[in-house]
This record gives sequence, structure tokens and C-alpha cells, in this order.
Amino acid sequence: MKAVAVFPGSQEVKLVQREPPRPANPDDVLLRVLDVGLCGTDKEICSFEYGSPPEGEDHLVIGHEALAEVVDVGPAVERLRRGDLVVPTVRRPCRSPDCLACRSGHQDYCYSGLFTERGIKEAHGYITEYVVDREKYMVPVPPGLRDLAVLTEPLTIAEKAMGQVFWLMQHRPPWLGPETPADQRGRGLSAVVLGIGPVGLLGAMTLAAAGFRTYVYSRELPPSPRTDLVSAIGATYISSQIRDFPDLVAETGNIDLIYEAVGHSHFALQALRVLGQNGIYILTGVPGLQAFIQADPASLMRDMVLKNQILLGTVNAGPEAFAAALADLERFAQRWPPATATIIAGRYPPEQATDLIFGRPAGIKSVISFPQPS
Ligand code: BGC
Ligand code: ZN
Repeated sequence: MKAVAVFPGSQEVKLVQREPPRPANPDDVLLRVLDVGLCGTDKEICSFEYGSPPEGEDHLVIGHEALAEVVDVGPAVERLRRGDLVVPTVRRPCRSPDCLACRSGHQDYCYSGLFTERGIKEAHGYITEYVVDREKYMVPVPPGLRDLAVLTEPLTIAEKAMGQVFWLMQHRPPWLGPETPADQRGRGLSAVVLGIGPVGLLGAMTLAAAGFRTYVYSRELPPSPRTDLVSAIGATYISSQIRDFPDLVAETGNIDLIYEAVGHSHFALQALRVLGQNGIYILTGVPGLQAFIQADPASLMRDMVLKNQILLGTVNAGPEAFAAALADLERFAQRWPPATATIIAGRYPPEQATDLIFGRPAGIKSVISFPQPS
């Protein structure tokens, strides 16, 4: 069967033939891969800056944003049946007996750092025809979400963050009531998303759907399919080439929340300076090596303390965030049908994966799809 793999030793990325995987545990499911989304992490892995093959192997099958169909189930599988659609989670627990996080099913908070991530770190990914995985790491997908569910994994980044933010907002200003309806939690508050890639746009949709007055701030000059999407969800796009940070605040007023999705240290720090009173700043970007920048930590600390600010980094996600992402995808599709449909720029065969990973995306999210047997 076909797979797209990266070979760090010989510095190659190529389409390879591999043996189809065989189930080994009674709770294994055999999956036929339908769609796999590509993202910046894949680009870093294919540039040999990130990621690593499974122990003892010379290559890593890439791809972590997957949607698959169950084609066979082991005798101990309880929830899934042949024909079901699933989104696999990405991270698998470490083996350390002392890791409180992994031992309680929260491997996205792994202490030891010895976790694996499918398609990223020491475990093969999903740009391949068939995969085997344990049932417990599969999130069932309603059949109506067949066309959108490949966006689940990148959306979990926002869902995991917002789950924590809404909990915090119940315990500090604006003292949100726990019964507040999902679409009113951000009412009267301003949120600024930094970056207009898929993570930024999905974050903006999550914030707009929660009722925040949402702004997306990035370099790109409008119009583009991305800035059109921002307008279509009722958010406001502001280009950093036209307005600097002080101008931005003049428009937004007190910035209650910043959702960073760029991974650029200078831009991220400049934004921290304009975070408002009681503001929460979420970091999701994973910067590679970047030029050193000058900063004024004393004034940053002073501001953070005197304004009760929170800086929250977040990576990967657990099953609740996947379930929340599926529920939100359904909501987005109902509320903004044409905009939601434009997120997936196109579906392409695995032979085109390398070009797509390195090329400038034509639209928002490129997806690798495997032809279905008729
Ligand atoms: C993935 C996460 C992963 C992170 C770091 C992201 O692209 O969506 O699942 O934890 O990269 O490896
Ligand atoms: Zn990704």
C-alpha cells in the first residue's frame, strides 16, 4: 500500500510502498484512511526540523489530521463497527509509571516528554491507505460530517484552549455563569486572533461562535479567500501592514483575549503589550529557530501583574476537545454554510503531498484523499 514518508537520514520525502498493517491487540481497529489534512507541522517535519521516526526505523509516515473508516474490528472492540467514521487522536501516552497525566488518560499534558504522536514523533501517521490503532484513541464521527471531519484535529487546538478559558472565566472576570449558553460566553468581550492560517481561522470561528467580538490580525493584505472567510463569519480582518498594534487597540477597545496562531516571537510579544485588563493570552504557535529579539521583561511583568493577566500555552488535545470540535463543526456548517465549505481548498492524491506541503496553499487547507474502492 502507498504511504508518504520522510527519511531524515537521507533527507528525502517520498511516496513509498509498505506492507498493510496487521491488528495485534484484541481492541485494535483496522482503518481505511479517507482524508488527511496538511499543516505547518508537516512542512517542518519534511524540512527535517521537527519530528522523528519510530525507534529503530529510518522513516516516518507523515500526516496527523485524519478521517478514516473502520473496516475491521478486534474481538474486544465495544463501541465501533465496520463502516463507522472516526477521527484518531494524535498523541499516545508515555510508559512512565510516574506520569500522572498519561496514567490518567491526559497524555496531552504528559510530564515525561516520552509520549509519541502519530505522524509526528516516533509513531507512523496517516498518509497511507490502511492503519491499525486501539479503539480507545478513536473519536466517532457522525456520518453527516464526512466532508468536514478532517478539520477536527486542527480545530481541537482552539477547543482545548477555550475549554480552559471558559472555566477560568467562571472563576474570574467576567464571572461567567456556568449555565451561560455556548453562543453567549464571549458576549461584550473582544478577542484578537493573531494569524490567518488554518489554526487562526478555526480559532476565529470558535470565538465568533461563542459570541466574542472577533478580530483577526495578520500580515496579509485583503482581499483573499482567507480574509473573505473572516468577513463571512462576522469577524473583522485587520492587516498589520496597514495598522500597527496601537491602531489595533484603538479599534478593538480592551482586548479580553488574544489567540496566537503564528509562532512568531516578535509579533507575539508585541501583542502581549496590548493585552487588556484581566486579559487572557493563548499561545498555540510552535516557533522554530528564530532571530533573537530585544524585549523589556520588567514592563511586561509589571503589566501582567497589575492587569491580572494570564498567559496560557496549549498543545495537542484530549478526547473532550475532539468531541467539542465535532459539535462545533456541525454548528459552523449550520451557521456559515458557504464559509465553512471554503475552508477545504481541495482534495488531492498522495502523489501530490510533497508539492502541497512545500507549495503556497491555494486556499485554506489542503487535504490528501485516498480513492475509494467502488
Ligand atoms: C498537532 C498537535 C501536535 C503538535 C506538536 C500540531 O500540528 O496538531 O497534535 O501536538 O503539532 O507536535
Ligand atoms: Zn497539524
